[in-house]
Amino acid sequence: MSVADITRTAEWTALKRHRQALAKTRIADLFKEDAQRFQHFSLQLDEFAFDFSKNLATTETMRLLHELARTADVAGWRDRMFAGEHINSTEDRAVYHVALRNVGREPMTVDGKDVMPDVRKVWEQMRAFVTNVREGHWHGATGERIRTVVNIGIGGSDLGPAMAVQALRPFCHPEMTFHFVSNVDGAHLHAALAHADPASTLFIVSSKTFTTQETLANATAARGWLTARLSPGAVPKHFVAVSAAVDKASAFGIAPENVFGFWDWVGGRYSMWSAIGLPIAVALGWEGFERLLAGAHAMDQHFKTAPAERNIPLTMGLIALWNIDFLEADAYAVLPYAQDLARLPAYLQQLEMESNGKTTRRDGKPVKCATGPVLFGEPGTNGQHAFYQLIHQGTQRVFCDFILAARDRSGYPDQHLLLTANFLAQSQALMFGKSAAEAMAEMRAAKMKAGKARALATHRSFFGDRPSNSILLGELDPYHLGKLVALYEHKTFVLGVLWGINSFDQWGVELGKQLASDILSGSGVARDGSTAGLKALYDAWQR
Ligand code: F6P
Repeated sequence: MSVADITRTAEWTALKRHRQALAKTRIADLFKEDAQRFQHFSLQLDEFAFDFSKNLATTETMRLLHELARTADVAGWRDRMFAGEHINSTEDRAVYHVALRNVGREPMTVDGKDVMPDVRKVWEQMRAFVTNVREGHWHGATGERIRTVVNIGIGGSDLGPAMAVQALRPFCHPEMTFHFVSNVDGAHLHAALAHADPASTLFIVSSKTFTTQETLANATAARGWLTARLSPGAVPKHFVAVSAAVDKASAFGIAPENVFGFWDWVGGRYSMWSAIGLPIAVALGWEGFERLLAGAHAMDQHFKTAPAERNIPLTMGLIALWNIDFLEADAYAVLPYAQDLARLPAYLQQLEMESNGKTTRRDGKPVKCATGPVLFGEPGTNGQHAFYQLIHQGTQRVFCDFILAARDRSGYPDQHLLLTANFLAQSQALMFGKSAAEAMAEMRAAKMKAGKARALATHRSFFGDRPSNSILLGELDPYHLGKLVALYEHKTFVLGVLWGINSFDQWGVELGKQLASDILSGSGVARDGSTAGLKALYDAWQR
């Protein structure tokens, strides 16, 4: 079993000492010392490369980090997850999303029961439904085929499908439109339905618990919209549901045969591989969805079997820990150089921040080190013209992941060359930086007067030595997206094990939900002066 407090281990102390020893070393120096650094500090799984060479990490750093992983028993925890043990201790549940993409034939058991027959049954139900809808055999109440799909869900019941459908746009059904409505703000539903034809619109209500306030409110409003335009009897032809609470979904008025189930061992933010992925499967077709699962499965197998020093999720987790706890990074930017991955940072915000944004260890004691960082991001090159300034010259230390697909499907190859050049240039700029002397020399070479050049030199200098990882995919297709997302899942898990926290609960989101109910019922408004004041203004401005 793991140690309770990782910061009290000899390995942690050794890493602290090692960090001091590197105090005067810059990342760029490491490339001068080792001409083969890229080969030594990058890992590959077919057409999927993870380059961590632009980090302040030496062979000794990696040796010490792997020692730490052994002490924390990361491999043991990984094996317990793959064995279906109840590693989600505070909810007494298994963490078994890996079974959902077990495209091999081997059984996978939870509490002594092989879950694969049930998983396959839902796959069959999904496959039949997806084929019917895509081929126009599923008819709405007036006999129209389905052209618009509106997914109603939030958090894990929204972000994965929304991210994947956008990421895989070139592979989606060309004559169907997909909307994802999550926010309880009616503006979100309104925007989705503004141009929708009720006769050809299908709603997928996705909620693991089927109790989430936002989803039920949006689903009820959508049902009202539909019945006002068609008839109350139209609901079964236009509403299906995905839920682990099949009875609650049926009670909402959805025919039991149109409820796609999943299980309590699937965490919300790990659920896009379950029936929660139904909109992805409708968009891609069943074979495309299977490719997504197969890509994730390939990463699972790699995580399970690759030796520690060649293991990509383990290495990525260790490098993240090094940056967060030893190099004191303040934040973490995920920067996909792919417009279609625009929702990836939002997806990863839930994955990483809901999983590891914690201060309490598994044993109930407070953590003694920094845990999950603030994660943010935008596609490159847009981010370059927005927040990269702070990453290059700000006082906050941000570590970055750059992501690029080598082959492009946009049909604009020249633009892909520009995109690639920017992808490569940014991590280079972060690493090398530019000294004031270099800035001065550049300005003088451009014939600027010495006084002016001297005045500008510090403004135009960059610290450099800012760490980053680069991830290069062969192509942004279902298979590689599956691998990419599974990599981030396992890396998040590795970090949770190292910090000694449970990455699979989310008690921190409960208080706000309770207080919203109190405020809705009126009892919570007077709890503090600010809330009472704001509510009084709100009421006054209704008139
Ligand atoms: O509020 C957080 C959360 O519980 C997430 O973990 C989950 O993905 C989301 O709400 C939605 O929950 P459900 O799928 O049960 O509607």
